[in-house]
Amino acid sequence: MHIFLTGATGFLGTVLLRDLLIRGHTVTALARAKHGISALDRIRGRLFDYDSNFLFDQAIGNTLFIAQQGLSGEYFGLDKEDYFRYAGLADMIIHNAACTELEADWSIYEEVNIRGTKEAIEFAAHTSGKSLAYTSSAYVAGTRSGRVYEDELIAEGSFRNGYEQSKALSENEVRKAASSGKIRAMIFRPSIIIGSSSNGWMCEEHHFFDFIFRLSLIHKIILKQLSSLKIKVDYQFRIPGDPQTTKNFVPVDYVANSISQLIEKSQAWGKAFHLTHPYPLKLKMLEGYVQKALGWLEIKLCSKEEIKNLSPLEQRFFRSTKIYEKYFWEEPFFDQSSLRLVLGSCLPVPEPISQELVSQIVEFIKVKHIRRKNLKLNRDK
Ligand SMILES: NC(=O)c1ccc[n+]([C@@H]2O[C@H](COP(=O)([O-])OP(=O)(O)OC[C@H]3O[C@@H](n4cnc5c(N)ncnc54)[C@H](OP(=O)(O)O)[C@@H]3O)[C@@H](O)[C@H]2O)c1
Repeated sequence: MHIFLTGATGFLGTVLLRDLLIRGHTVTALARAKHGISALDRIRGRLFDYDSNFLFDQAIGNTLFIAQQGLSGEYFGLDKEDYFRYAGLADMIIHNAACTELEADWSIYEEVNIRGTKEAIEFAAHTSGKSLAYTSSAYVAGTRSGRVYEDELIAEGSFRNGYEQSKALSENEVRKAASSGKIRAMIFRPSIIIGSSSNGWMCEEHHFFDFIFRLSLIHKIILKQLSSLKIKVDYQFRIPGDPQTTKNFVPVDYVANSISQLIEKSQAWGKAFHLTHPYPLKLKMLEGYVQKALGWLEIKLCSKEEIKNLSPLEQRFFRSTKIYEKYFWEEPFFDQSSLRLVLGSCLPVPEPISQELVSQIVEFIKVKHIRRKNLKLNRDK
């Protein structure tokens, strides 16, 4: 197929783009230039970072084309002529771009996520297959609990943040356009995407990366404080969260692989899919894995009542990661009946979220951090 892909410079987009090309599809990627770097160089850099063996130079101009533009405005900000040319060439669009910050200004979500999705619907209507594959999120379920089904969406539900709400409203636009017959659509709902199960690769802007990175910085401060004490003390660092709640993490390669398979299945059109882990991890387990991977003394999940008694350092960490804390108390169970029905024996099974995988991702984050620090040092010299 010829696929028009948005969000190719992002975390999931990078892995998905590589998968689509490897599976023999032709891709036109809509991407913007940033910080003086062209869209082409940004995509090249990301693909190289993820898989240095990927033959970019063979793909570009043959099976990979770049449309350099943002998402904003009518026709994705493209020339009208270019827009219709791209749409005419494509069998379908995979709309994967979004503002993924958890707490941005609502006007940004409105412009990028909701209006961007409406533009993707328009574009899809002009592709030869009138087809839109849309990356939503499992967290369009908002603060619901219990079992959530793939065919359910409460667009006016209760949400933890503007991001979730904007994704629910965007998914609703896709559902409405599909039920009106304007386009055909399939919807992907990943849970929290983490590093690749093959090499731990992640984007540095990602939430999990940010959380672990902040935790490792605090760890350094604590080690320094403890070493100045010159005596051995038991140290416990408290992070608010319910040890019994689950956290549904999925490796990025699992999500990309599932999407690549689903778009090739005719039975997948008209359906939504939870690209989630069938065996989500309890927060207690994750706490243990992260503690071991970072070489911490002891991390302890604590109750909401204990928040007011946190030490200054614990408070500091709590404040700097508060946007994630809302996810540490409850999570619904994401039903995957549609996914199982459509993929059957081809159903990819995500890697278990093991100590090994968490350690690999944490190691990747540490290495990236050192590289970033060295780059900054060299720039400042
Ligand atoms: N990561 C997760 O845990 C997760 C979980 C569930 C669902 N999802 C969904 O999966 C999709 C991909 O997520 P991700 O983690 O890969 O996100 P990401 O790393 O933040 O990438 C977002 C992509 O969207 C593009 N984008 C954002 N704002 C834009 C704008 N104003 N104009 C043009 N392009 C813009 C970015 O382009 P630039 O590089 O130019 O900024 C980037 O290519 C999103 O739809 C997200 O909602 C993600």
